[in-house]
Amino acid sequence: MSSPLPSFTLPVRREEDRFACAAEGVRIARWAGLSDRAQQELAIAIAELVSNAVRHAGGGEIEVRAIRGVPPNPNPSIASPVDKNPRLGVEVIVRDSGPGIDPKLATATEESSSTPVPRLPGQGLGIGLGAVHRLMSSVVIRSAPGISTEVVAIKWA
Ligand SMILES: Nc1ncnc2c1ncn2[C@@H]1O[C@H](COP(=O)(O)OP(=O)(O)OP(=O)(O)O)[C@@H](O)[C@H]1O
Ligand SMILES: [Mg+2]
Repeated sequence: MSSPLPSFTLPVRREEDRFACAAEGVRIARWAGLSDRAQQELAIAIAELVSNAVRHAGGGEIEVRAIRGVPPNPNPSIASPVDKNPRLGVEVIVRDSGPGIDPKLATATEESSSTPVPRLPGQGLGIGLGAVHRLMSSVVIRSAPGISTEVVAIKWA
């Protein structure tokens, strides 16, 4: 039988929790065979998502796990040979019970991920979520206004 895939789940309550979460994520990324650069990109994405859960939702929870599977074809309209071999990757799930993300805002960070979202005084730079989209292989944001936010981001080796 193959050994279980490594994972961890941690509460996130303070901005500085992002450092420990990113470090633990890198440990799993190394196990999954991500390159040094990809490990660092994953660390930045984890730090941004943890920071968001703390700053915009008052805290939440992060789950990071190694996964094994066949990455989806990024461009199904191109009939190129697709690698069907299972690969290892890292899945990051950050959940909170905060105010939710405005769906328009969530889509904006995906569609023009290098353009900062509009800012109000006292807010952050508005580039964190866009960076997460660029640094990860896939990002899905599930948000219920006034109830919760869940961001699921995957990076394949
Ligand atoms: N977990 C969350 N709950 C509620 N709103 C969120 C959450 N994450 C992000 N948002 C909203 O989406 C916006 C964009 O997030 P993003 O991380 O890109 O920018 P930011 O956190 O404001 O600034 P920074 O550039 O420092 O990350 C935030 O300003 C906030 O309004
Ligand atoms: Mg942010």
